[in-house]
Amino acid sequence: MLYQYLYLIATVLFIFGIMRLSKVRTARSGNVYASVGMLLAIVGVLMEAGKLNWYALVAGMMLGSAVGVFIAVRTPMTAMPEMVGALNGLGGGASTLVALGYLVEEVAKLQSGQVLFDLHDMTVAQAITVPVTLLVGGITFSGSFMAFFKLRGKNWSHPLQGAARHGLHAVLGILVVLISVWMINGASGGFGITLAAGFVVLVALALGVFLVMPIGGADMPVVISLLNSYSGIAGAASGFVVGNELLVVSGALVGASGIILTQIMCKAMNRSLGNVLLGGLGETATGGAKDSEYKGVKSATPEELALLFDGATSCIVVPGYGLAVAQAQHTVRELDELLEKRGCKVRYAIHPVAGRMPGHMNVLLAEADVPYEKLLEMDAINPDFKQTDIVIVVGANDVVNPAARTEKTSPIYGMPILDVDQARTVIVLKRSLSPGYAGIKNPLFELPNCLMLFQDAKQGLQALLSELKAA
Ligand code: TAP
Repeated sequence: MLYQYLYLIATVLFIFGIMRLSKVRTARSGNVYASVGMLLAIVGVLMEAGKLNWYALVAGMMLGSAVGVFIAVRTPMTAMPEMVGALNGLGGGASTLVALGYLVEEVAKLQSGQVLFDLHDMTVAQAITVPVTLLVGGITFSGSFMAFFKLRGKNWSHPLQGAARHGLHAVLGILVVLISVWMINGASGGFGITLAAGFVVLVALALGVFLVMPIGGADMPVVISLLNSYSGIAGAASGFVVGNELLVVSGALVGASGIILTQIMCKAMNRSLGNVLLGGLGETATGGAKDSEYKGVKSATPEELALLFDGATSCIVVPGYGLAVAQAQHTVRELDELLEKRGCKVRYAIHPVAGRMPGHMNVLLAEADVPYEKLLEMDAINPDFKQTDIVIVVGANDVVNPAARTEKTSPIYGMPILDVDQARTVIVLKRSLSPGYAGIKNPLFELPNCLMLFQDAKQGLQALLSELKAA
């Protein structure tokens, strides 16, 4: 059958697409591979169902592409996690609808006396995956939109705290299991099955909201990545429900890659995966450090800072969220080129959760044509800070906060950070002493080897560049 070949080619394209997404250099083509794979998958599904209509397909593609382009153009890079969150949610919602659609069909058959809806009628895979799809899909849907709104600044908090909260979640979880068992055993007829399915979906939606609600802002990237994985698991489960192998494979790919990314991010933020899976990531970050908490902070002018570069042979740039806000990536590259001409070796230290999404800094610097080889990951560059003349921290804060190493009471204690404080001189370029995402004080700013340049990242870099050119 032709559609089976299309499924096979689509699967291979998905796998190569994901492989290529793991490197900035090949990421664009990875997207193209996956998009072509998805087109073939849709054609294959319609063929299998005997409903292939090329006009409807092209019209759907044009409409979908127009909506996609509109959203993509309007979404700034800094709001990308929200967009990913919303897309995950739609994926989870779609899987729930697939399982509900299956149930509606089965209930109709049951009512017309064609089948007996119970474990004897369903395959074991379906018996397990119908409620799993409803549950995981529902959690993914509401949890993702909760994460979306939290990233948009909504500060909703959970009505319950501590053990009561976990107790509520556990009770809801047990109820879902009991109702699911009743459902797949026939639930005393069509009405019971409909009632049970509705109940599972409602509880799943509530659980999604309750599980994400108490999670603090600084942990949100892990949540988004975990929900991405959930959306894949829901997709794979719905593939079992409707007996579509391609859905199983593509869902499994998303589920597995999401879990791998979650694990990488957990490590970068010092969270255990078990902690994440239990939805116990901790409370919202602290209220924010005040300027008055800082003592002995030294600020410098671009002119003074330019003098530091006389004789400097090594420089590491640490980009952070502020670089993205100021869109300073092109100015950073100009500074890099000028310093290299003056005999100063420039490299970039990339923290895995710098910015607001995985790979945020890599994407920005790639856009400015900074050579990939100059970008070094945290573990590779950390030992080099000790021998570095100047570190320029551009709009980064939490990822260079030494409290993560030293202050046991800090909310970010244990999070691996870039050890910029060990360099000979650290220049921190930001507009004020305002905290970063975690909302906490950064003792780096008080260190004797740290100089602050209080400016917008782009303007500050341009000013430094002009001074260096004039020197
Ligand atoms: P942050 O700790 O968030 O600090 C960013 C700093 O940029 C702020 O202190 C801000 O200070 C400064 N800033 C903002 N606009 C600026 C501008 N126009 N010019 C210059 N500076 C500007 O950033 P980070 O060090 O990159 O750490 C990332 C944080 O976000 C972590 O806590 C991480 O857990 C969290 N997070 C990460 C992700 C991913 S996956 N990367 C997703 C969500 C959350 P001023 O206001 O004083 O300028």
